[in-house]
Amino acid sequence: MRLCLLLFCVTAVRGWSDTRIRKFKKEFLFGVATSAYQVEGAWDTDGKGESIWDKYLHDHPELIADGRNGDIACDSYHQYKRDVEMLRELGVDHYRFSISWPRVLPTGLTNDINEKGLQYYDNLINELLKYGIEPMVTIYHFDLPQSLQELGGWASPLVVQWFEDYTRLLFDRYADRVKFWITINQPSFCFESYGGITAPGIKSKGLGDYMCVKHVLLAHAKAYRLYEKEYKNKYKGSVGISLSLNFGHPLNNKTENQEAAEIFRDFTIGLYMNPIWSKYGDFPKTVRNRVMKKSKEQGYEKSRLPTLSSEEIKLLKGSADFVGINHYTSVFVEARTDSDEIFEVPSLQDDIGVLLTQSDEWVSGKSSWLKSAPYGIYKLCLYLNEKYNYPQTFVTEQGWSTGTSLNDRSRVDYLREYLIALLFAIEDGTKVMGYTVWSLMDNVEWNAGTSERFGLYEVDFEAEEKTRTARLSALVYKRIIQKRVV
Ligand code: NOJ
Repeated sequence: MRLCLLLFCVTAVRGWSDTRIRKFKKEFLFGVATSAYQVEGAWDTDGKGESIWDKYLHDHPELIADGRNGDIACDSYHQYKRDVEMLRELGVDHYRFSISWPRVLPTGLTNDINEKGLQYYDNLINELLKYGIEPMVTIYHFDLPQSLQELGGWASPLVVQWFEDYTRLLFDRYADRVKFWITINQPSFCFESYGGITAPGIKSKGLGDYMCVKHVLLAHAKAYRLYEKEYKNKYKGSVGISLSLNFGHPLNNKTENQEAAEIFRDFTIGLYMNPIWSKYGDFPKTVRNRVMKKSKEQGYEKSRLPTLSSEEIKLLKGSADFVGINHYTSVFVEARTDSDEIFEVPSLQDDIGVLLTQSDEWVSGKSSWLKSAPYGIYKLCLYLNEKYNYPQTFVTEQGWSTGTSLNDRSRVDYLREYLIALLFAIEDGTKVMGYTVWSLMDNVEWNAGTSERFGLYEVDFEAEEKTRTARLSALVYKRIIQKRVV
């Protein structure tokens, strides 16, 4: 029923059955993504320091679905040339990878620089450029140096300066060759980290979550301003931030469900977008009020959502050249009822106070939260256009999880259907510079270990060489890139 409703909307609103051939422009960039902890391995090689993920999964092997952590992962630290070969096979325009903060700064601070770590990324970047592949660097993708965690991590205001120093080191070293920078991947990690379900595994409402969000945003903005002031004129690159933007549709037209969906979007989109893109330049009022209400109920004196000073508001406003969209799936939102059918959103659930479900009729990926609902990316793009005045966007992640099979028909369907929806969004005015598949190859999916595979290339984790083999989806993506047609 719900599926029919969605299909109906798509056909009615966008003419899904319209069979004209739509093409991506030749300037549109196609790429793939990975992140350091998930692929590099070599967790303590050549002077690398410990990250919060090293520590968390070493201390709690029982939390990893199949027991495989990132110690070796895909061994990309030693096999980056093979990775670049795969990128060439695919014919991608760009490769999004992240830099491991503790690999280049073992203690997190710039008084102890690991030259060998810096050299590794030099080699990777040079290898990419040698074959005309644009490097897109994520500065932070979840792997904080453990020693900074011990000084307070993202809950401490000091992290803003630590991050700026780290970023300066990277800009000094790589800005001559890297034109696309993503400061931080998915600030919503704060709710998982401080919900106690991902590294550093600290359960702390109040100390973590919203405090962490504020520091993440300020760290991002400082890095943006640094580039703007000292590097942009010379190197002409752009700096953005990647947000986890799955879309919340109201379950139906009932006013209370429409309101619930808007609350959900304020918590999952507005919390990050408003301070950077909206003319108000502050956190959404809904979030402040709901966190306040909850706090009062619990006897706190004030909202757990920190305030932003006028200087902070100024710093944040306009601090991105593009928004990186990580979009995987959608949810239906309804005002909370007594139903026990609650779709888990870690830790945020209580604050939002809405009910989230997915349709049983949507095709499921291997990850419990991942269902295919291509219309969601179209709706998301239109929502951003309307609310934030057509922001420059870059799809920095989209992907599908399966088992190990090479014949990944479901991934092919997923990618093709989402790309068609994206073409519709572009036709309707969305400014999208490019699209990035998560992921180039199977890797360590955090607590899920290697039990959920997102790769266009399958990785044999049993084999010492971590052999990579192209899946059907790799061949299809290659054709899409070549022809610019889905
Ligand atoms: C988003 C994260 O950035 C990435 O690290 C993760 O593997 C994918 N989602 C899939 O869950």
